[in-house]
Amino acid sequence: MEYNIAITAQADRQVKDTKNVPFGKQPTEHMFIAEYKDGKWQDSRIVPFHDLTLSPFALCLHYGQTVFEGMKAFLTDDKRINIFRPEKHYERFTKSLQRMCMPEVPKGLFMEALHQLVQLDASWIPNDEHGSLYLRPFMIASEARMGVKVSDEYLFMIVCSPAYQYYAQPLKVKVEDTYVRAAEGGTGSTKCGGNYGAAFYPSKLAKDAGYDQVIWTDSKNHEYIEESGTMNLMFFIDNTLLTPPLSTSILDGVTRDSLLTLAKEQGINVDVRLIRHEEIREALEAGKRVEAFGAGTAAVIAPIETIAMGGKHYNCYVGEDATMYQLQKALYDIRKGTAPDKHNWNYII
Ligand code: COI
Repeated sequence: MEYNIAITAQADRQVKDTKNVPFGKQPTEHMFIAEYKDGKWQDSRIVPFHDLTLSPFALCLHYGQTVFEGMKAFLTDDKRINIFRPEKHYERFTKSLQRMCMPEVPKGLFMEALHQLVQLDASWIPNDEHGSLYLRPFMIASEARMGVKVSDEYLFMIVCSPAYQYYAQPLKVKVEDTYVRAAEGGTGSTKCGGNYGAAFYPSKLAKDAGYDQVIWTDSKNHEYIEESGTMNLMFFIDNTLLTPPLSTSILDGVTRDSLLTLAKEQGINVDVRLIRHEEIREALEAGKRVEAFGAGTAAVIAPIETIAMGGKHYNCYVGEDATMYQLQKALYDIRKGTAPDKHNWNYII
């Protein structure tokens, strides 16, 4: 099916140097927007980036029907435009929308909108190792109605922002044993705005205590490790890449999935299972070399240098020869088109 996306183009970009702009501050010139009304998506258009007009009664402002995705576009070494795994992101977006009772976006519309928008704003894709154009598809409930109900109207939008390294330094984290990010059966596996809002307060307490992030643990006993900050969490111990299995409280990270696939291909043992934080502590206390890192689209790999648990601080391995960097490089090479894309992860425009 062909999607008719009207394009109103803006004059050339004014901002040249984006490298020192913090993540998510600098929009590109254009955005995509489509409106859901009377049971169908309509009025799909790419327009100059602009502020929205919403009724203060708009349902997204009150009851949390907001869902988003985060993906990236790169320039390959031979200067082709590459969106990384948009179909996997689309699948996750659809699952999040279902969980939040929001209408699905047809795959053709999603892909066409991304394609047209990234093509139009391609001059914003940074051309260096850690640079990318971060793409943020999202949907909000726009019906002006203050009663508690599922909205009948929505806006689906895509905005873009140049992105570089998300964390400048290896992280210092603490195992969270009071608050939870998500409970079994809740919305932890969806990318809905509320998950992030609910994480702010415990994250702020951790920051006030000198940590960059928390390691989230299960909601029943704070015994099992779930995620770290806004990322999936992985360990490399005893020559094995370890990560918790997906569940209703863990996000199905695209970077997580890519790294697990690449690790298996490289002959690394991969063990996806429940991980007690005690087990990590025991390994560290036994003097084992432990690598710990967050994995996510924005951060890619975020090495963890220090973990606080049980009132003690433990150092993890962040040396240059760490396996996490080897995996990160394998991912970069595919995205840059310098290694074969065996799984068709690259969507070349
Ligand atoms: C991402 O890694 O894309 C995220 O969604 C994390 C954060 C920027 C919200």
